[in-house]
Amino acid sequence: MKIKKAVIPVGGLGTRFLPATKAQPKEMLPIVDKPAVQYIVEEAVASGIESIIFITGRNKKSIEDHFDKSIELEQMLEEKQKLEVLNEIQQISSMANIHYIRQKEPKGLGHAVLCAEQFIGNEPFAVLLGDDIMVSEQPALKQMIEAYHNTNQSIIGVKAVANEDVSKYGIIDPGNKFGRVHSVKDLVEKPSIDTAPSNIAVMGRYILNPSIFSYLKMIEQGVGNELQLTDALRLQCENEKLYALELEGRRYDIGEKIGYIKAMIEVALNRADLHRPLLSYLEGIVEEELVKKLDQRKVPSKNII
Ligand code: G1P
Repeated sequence: MKIKKAVIPVGGLGTRFLPATKAQPKEMLPIVDKPAVQYIVEEAVASGIESIIFITGRNKKSIEDHFDKSIELEQMLEEKQKLEVLNEIQQISSMANIHYIRQKEPKGLGHAVLCAEQFIGNEPFAVLLGDDIMVSEQPALKQMIEAYHNTNQSIIGVKAVANEDVSKYGIIDPGNKFGRVHSVKDLVEKPSIDTAPSNIAVMGRYILNPSIFSYLKMIEQGVGNELQLTDALRLQCENEKLYALELEGRRYDIGEKIGYIKAMIEVALNRADLHRPLLSYLEGIVEEELVKKLDQRKVPSKNII
């Protein structure tokens, strides 16, 4: 069955980016000149998704405005004959059918996905998390959709992470591996490194069979007193088969400041108009830092007898 619908939860409060997110959603923070959430929508569309539902919360109106038509702006760009930008702006509002549901309280990712039940109905669907920006030759979600079609069972996108990062993610207990696909024996949300079954982490891309909704209704509050999608997947995995695909490509955790800065730099380096000036600036900075480091290592001459 073709995967046509995607859920993008954007209800989070963005507290790690305060004060930048005091009056604007974290999903609208730009990576170079595009809001982060647009990268996610573009990945979904490039993977064949036709309809997207955002699960929104308070303070998220600018996401709706961004994907809506902007008549005044378009008129102004047309009058000024800025046709290239006009075309880009018009494409944003015609990329996909976009819908919104408001999650009244931030009760966790599991609850956010459950809010999409009516919209999804009885078909497999995708979930993309906005904190995970994937840069890859083949869009990450497309990799997942292709893998899904081999098994028709729910599949989650994964990548190995450093031991010190294990407690930030959902972690799988992998079974057999066929190429880049693991069968999943179990999974656990944000385990400590001592109890983690592996270091293979869930990366914010999921293709889910609709039976997930019944499991989402069974779970209780988990880590952080929230309804966790990982806990519902755990139930799904007890009763059905569940797979995990090792995603190819670079992934940036833009929910963290350092991940956000790395994404900004690497996306800019990939842009023809920015590559040269940015690279020479970075080279200059690195050189200065190296000189500083060498200077610190030098023994001050007054100490030499
Ligand atoms: C969520 C999921 C977690 C997953 C992570 C990927 O956690 O609950 O299983 O590994 O996204 O970014 P969050 O980062 O929202 O706490």
